[in-house]
Amino acid sequence: MRDGFGRPQTVLLLGGTSEIGQAIADRLLPETGTLILAGRDQAALARAAERLTRTRREVTTLHYDALAPAAATVDLLAVAAARHGDLDVVVLAVGVLADEAALADTSAVEQAMHTNLLGPMLAVHATATRLRAQGHGTLVVLSSVAAMRTRDGLLSYGVAKTALDVYARRIGDSLRGSGARVLVVRPGHVRTRMTAGLPEPPFATDVRNVAARVGRALTGRAAVTYAPAVLGPVMTALRLLPAVVYRRLDAARRGDTALGKGAAS
Ligand SMILES: NC(=O)c1ccc[n+]([C@@H]2O[C@H](COP(=O)([O-])OP(=O)(O)OC[C@H]3O[C@@H](n4cnc5c(N)ncnc54)[C@H](OP(=O)(O)O)[C@@H]3O)[C@@H](O)[C@H]2O)c1
Repeated sequence: MRDGFGRPQTVLLLGGTSEIGQAIADRLLPETGTLILAGRDQAALARAAERLTRTRREVTTLHYDALAPAAATVDLLAVAAARHGDLDVVVLAVGVLADEAALADTSAVEQAMHTNLLGPMLAVHATATRLRAQGHGTLVVLSSVAAMRTRDGLLSYGVAKTALDVYARRIGDSLRGSGARVLVVRPGHVRTRMTAGLPEPPFATDVRNVAARVGRALTGRAAVTYAPAVLGPVMTALRLLPAVVYRRLDAARRGDTALGKGAAS
């Protein structure tokens, strides 16, 4: 449950090694409370736990794999709540970025879609179900500006984020009146290991900016936030461009970058 100042006391991060996710969790939790890092790489989670622990803040780890069957996510949420009480905030920060050319065969596309879409969708569903039953709690879903306009070089990623974004917003709508809510976050290019080595597009930002945007959005009633904020109007304008113009812009941008990768977002 939140403390007397309305600050969360228990935060669960799905994708516990995510640099963006950790920055958000660190920002949202006061110096007290419990942070649960859930992910695949137990050694990396243990290192992160050590870094994020404070004198009066406990950080624990759990196993989570987005490729596992849905029941595993349901169980994970039950275990987290049984050990630490109601979940005030759940941050979903799972994702892999691969440009289309790197998805060498159809199985690689399947794995990318499972990681970026099916696994996260099931996590959204399972978390929303739990938060509804609690009667409170916030689910923060890391979408992307790629959800606003897919790009040729990142087609699978963009399609996955588009579908996840829609799904999370609709689930958020269905939670109205329950006390629980969903916040969809659409970052642009954020400097993390995911984008390491990629050329920086305009409006590139860092994890602290994303965390600050999430913190601010959670004090209001927004269902969607951009990081940085300027990407809201920029993406709205880009969406209005005719497809043929957008594709030319996209192709020109990819032509400027090695392997046609460009920005992550
Ligand atoms: N960085 C950007 O420019 C940017 C922009 C827009 C949106 N986003 C989104 O923001 C989120 C966080 O990204 P980030 O920049 O923080 O990158 P990151 O540090 O690489 O985090 C990605 C996370 O996804 C986890 N993951 C991947 N496959 C998984 C699986 N099968 N099961 C469980 N976890 C899995 C990774 O765990 P492992 O350590 O085990 O691999 C890691 O914790 C992602 O959803 C990403 O798409 C990022």
